[in-house]
Amino acid sequence: MSSNVILQAKNIHRRFGGVVAVKDASLTVNSGEIVGLIGPNGSGKSTMVNLITGELQVNGGSFTFCGQDVTALPPYQRARLGMSRSFQMIRLFGSLSVEDNLLLARHISMNSSTLDSIAGNPKAKQEEDQVRAKARELLAWFELEKFAQRPATALSIGQQRMVELARGLISEPKLFLLDEPAAGLSPPNVDRLITIIRRMRDEFGMSILLVEHDMRVVRELCDRVAVLDSGEMIAQGEPEVVVNDPVVVEAYIGSGWKRRAKA
Ligand SMILES: Nc1ncnc2c1ncn2[C@@H]1O[C@H](COP(=O)(O)OP(=O)(O)OP(=O)(O)O)[C@@H](O)[C@H]1O
Ligand SMILES: [Mg+2]
Repeated sequence: MSSNVILQAKNIHRRFGGVVAVKDASLTVNSGEIVGLIGPNGSGKSTMVNLITGELQVNGGSFTFCGQDVTALPPYQRARLGMSRSFQMIRLFGSLSVEDNLLLARHISMNSSTLDSIAGNPKAKQEEDQVRAKARELLAWFELEKFAQRPATALSIGQQRMVELARGLISEPKLFLLDEPAAGLSPPNVDRLITIIRRMRDEFGMSILLVEHDMRVVRELCDRVAVLDSGEMIAQGEPEVVVNDPVVVEAYIGSGWKRRAKA
């Protein structure tokens, strides 16, 4: 396996009772790549993300991350190796400040426990200060610094999406999995999102797996695209080729696709 490969998903299989959500699906993400994962509603995209991060366990197949087999590792260990994610539905702690939402995310990858920090352990205090500085730096990068002390729910949906991205970046991931980051955003906010995701890759040098229904986002950002249909990978390749592939168009039409059907 080339050292250029960040993530290799091999023959992944996952059932929910009688439903096969992901069927023998394979996928590779290389260093610095933005790979799109598309497909009709219910085709297994979010399940695939949850399997990659370890929130769900596979029934078959394996995941290699940065050359290490992580198939049996729990989510927090995969996170520590350099995986981060955002959720299809925004999951911020609404009553906490924007800055505290970022700090909370960082706790999973910190050495000292929250208890140490409360108990006044000097090393923990030092780590906490470093993380706080990092959180402020990131919020400035997203032009959200003026909202740092505001409760997350006081922000617009577009801003909350940006906070989610900032939260994912605080652990300095090698691979960032984004589950429909453009969902519910207005066109100007989608433009901003496209710019930000491209800058995240270029300036932080990370790889991104992008689940997205908005084909403009997919076309503008993705180096490669993989298509799931009823849990099966039906196409992979360059965005322009894949979205015009009759097999892919048929899968969307066959699913009764209405939402942003223009491929
Ligand atoms: N926790 C679960 N329990 C039972 N079935 C599930 C569960 N999660 C997903 N499924 C089923 O697995 C299939 C794939 O769902 P998934 O959420 O991965 O699709 P998706 O491609 O992300 O869809 P969408 O575009 O609507 O977000 C669907 O049939 C769904 O009902
Ligand atoms: Mg989904």
